[in-house]
Amino acid sequence: MTPTVHILFENAAWLAPLEKALSDRNIPYELHFLEGGTLDLSAEPPEGIYINRMSPSSHTRGHQGGVQHVRDLLVWLEAHGRRVINGSAAFELELSKVRQDLALRHFGIRTPRTIAVAGTEGLKEAARRMELPFITKHNQGGKGLGVKLFRDLQAFDAYVDGPDFIEDPGGVTLLQQYIKPANENITRVELVDGAFVYAMHSSTADGFELCPAVECSADDAFCPVGDSGKFKVADDFTADDELVAKYAEVMAAYGIDVAGIEFVLGEDGLRYTYDINGTTNYNLDVEAESGVEGMAYIAALVERIANPELSLSAK
Ligand SMILES: Nc1ncnc2c1ncn2[C@@H]1O[C@H](COP(=O)(O)OP(=O)(O)O)[C@@H](O)[C@H]1O
Ligand SMILES: [Mg+2]
Repeated sequence: MTPTVHILFENAAWLAPLEKALSDRNIPYELHFLEGGTLDLSAEPPEGIYINRMSPSSHTRGHQGGVQHVRDLLVWLEAHGRRVINGSAAFELELSKVRQDLALRHFGIRTPRTIAVAGTEGLKEAARRMELPFITKHNQGGKGLGVKLFRDLQAFDAYVDGPDFIEDPGGVTLLQQYIKPANENITRVELVDGAFVYAMHSSTADGFELCPAVECSADDAFCPVGDSGKFKVADDFTADDELVAKYAEVMAAYGIDVAGIEFVLGEDGLRYTYDINGTTNYNLDVEAESGVEGMAYIAALVERIANPELSLSAK
């Protein structure tokens, strides 16, 4: 008997595939919508296995309080010995591209050169230390927030001073080397519990943004709702790619059970990894094409946690 799974979430639109995967295996679950909350530190958390599905882009749906609450909640759950899929260490990494970059580089994975600037004062000076072109992005990313390309410093200065500049929720803006994609796409590698699920290409022909969820907030100009054709199975990327083993190492070191990790192949023939998504959403078109169901991997992980004697072949 699998114990109850507690799903911590803030965007209901992303739940259905996970609920289906759990139901398919008769795994009982409870939903916990978190846009903020109260935490009694002397209380005992319910028994069960927890899945953290909080998104770093929660604030764009009015749920920034949820991120802060869940940061504490995860530590509280772990203090009571509860197993959290993508627990506190994974979440801290997910909320900071600075931490992601340092973690990736620690394991010898190439990343684009990046300068992180807290506040806005230092931005223009930092830009003068970057080679052009460069991009800006939010440290707490998700769905391409603040991602803009700059080919000259005048345009950058005007952006910083102008009305379009939106600050990252934690106030940290990244300036990052722009890697022009060799093939007008990026690759996103999906992994669960260190195992390769599949990889997909996401077209950059129409610009940057690329959250693969089929259901994303429809008012978000960046989100590819209904935009089928943008995401394709990456047939040229297989489980034996050396990046898979390296990504698995990062995941093991930072307690990341579930991740979609993105890299871009530059015109120099080198691959640059730039984003680790813990709250990964599987693209249904890609799943239909590949015949692989990502959420089933998460459900299988739940079963292995509940029944450690299950063989790894159950992956
Ligand atoms: N250094 C880069 N060079 C070129 N394109 C990039 C770079 N970083 C990000 N992008 C593009 O912008 C998109 C969003 O950036 P990303 O870092 O993944 O932010 P988010 O966490 O918001 O998804 C990427 O999918 C990619 O298309
Ligand atoms: Mg991304």
